[in-house]
Amino acid sequence: MNPKKPSQQNTRILAVETSCDETAAAILVDGRKILSNVVATQIDLHAKFGGVFPEMASRQHILTIYPVVEEALNQAHLSLEELDAIAVTRGPGLAGSLVVGMNMAKALSLGSGLPLIGINHLEGHLYSAWIQSEMDEPQNPPEFPIIALIVSGGHSTLMVMKDHLQYEFLGSTLDDAAGEAFDKVARLLNLPYPGGPSVQKAAERGNPAAFNFPRSWLEGSWDFSFSGLKTAVLREVRTLEGKGIVIPVEDMAASFQTAVVDVLTRKAFLAAEHFNAKHIVVAGGVSANRALRNAFTEQNRFIIHIPPLKYCTDNAAMIAAAGYQRFIHGFRDDLSMDVFPNWPLV
Ligand code: KG4
Ligand code: ZN
Repeated sequence: MNPKKPSQQNTRILAVETSCDETAAAILVDGRKILSNVVATQIDLHAKFGGVFPEMASRQHILTIYPVVEEALNQAHLSLEELDAIAVTRGPGLAGSLVVGMNMAKALSLGSGLPLIGINHLEGHLYSAWIQSEMDEPQNPPEFPIIALIVSGGHSTLMVMKDHLQYEFLGSTLDDAAGEAFDKVARLLNLPYPGGPSVQKAAERGNPAAFNFPRSWLEGSWDFSFSGLKTAVLREVRTLEGKGIVIPVEDMAASFQTAVVDVLTRKAFLAAEHFNAKHIVVAGGVSANRALRNAFTEQNRFIIHIPPLKYCTDNAAMIAAAGYQRFIHGFRDDLSMDVFPNWPLV
């Protein structure tokens, strides 16, 4: 059995994340300080399909999970006996992918006697805002109440957090998630996979005012909708194609991106005003978008917490950060835990 007593300081958590197409393991101290952070990406494998191929993703996780965990332990110069707990992504995500990480985490827990904690992937994205970046001066963590905006490939969720692990749901997307809209528009514009970074790159050379694409404000609601915007891009592409005009990909990408950024920032700022929140956390893959980061940070009414780029897209450091909060609040799971592919956070 693990001889170390749970304490709130110097808590070392090893986390495993395999919810989609990144095989990842990381070790963090007290949910903030990185000892190791290993991510084996499968981007090249899925690029030829233009999206994640679930069966291939799980097979690749099986090949990579052991070396990735071993590397995380090696980089941290730690053995399992020197850790306090194992955190693992339980969902949401691809069932076959989640199972690989879950079985690895269970095996580690069974072999070492370390407690096991199942983590919601979205909670992980959120807690990436608490990770201390190695490069910068020590940053202060977000302060409650917090408006939390999670924008990823599968989710666009707005919440208010009045304390750790306490989520009050405000709104989410009624159709496409923000990242999904980026990915679909990338396909429409023939931009390479993965779509979000490709749209960003094209947009940087385009005119954001070239096309006046619609913004779904959904006044009076905290929800989002991006499918109308995506359809507007499609219609414009078809119209131009019909006239034999070369698609101005860069202008379209810039005009689309600015419409998404306008909606996300406006709703988050309105929510912060409404709930008297000074701090806003923006997390998830889409928070890597430079235009979105700039739009959030180019104001001085609110204090914005957006994780460094490497913690925006899927990684295990964020799962360890959330795992720390669950650990110190007494949450424990056991070997009967199963994956939960549609697990809602709230
Ligand atoms: O959080 P994440 O890595 O995986 C999920 O949990 O879904 O998010 C992936 C999503 C994809 O839709 C990807 O296109 C988008 O995040 N993304 C971006 C950027 N980088 C990743 N979207 C816009 N701009 C980016 N720079
Ligand atoms: Zn994610």
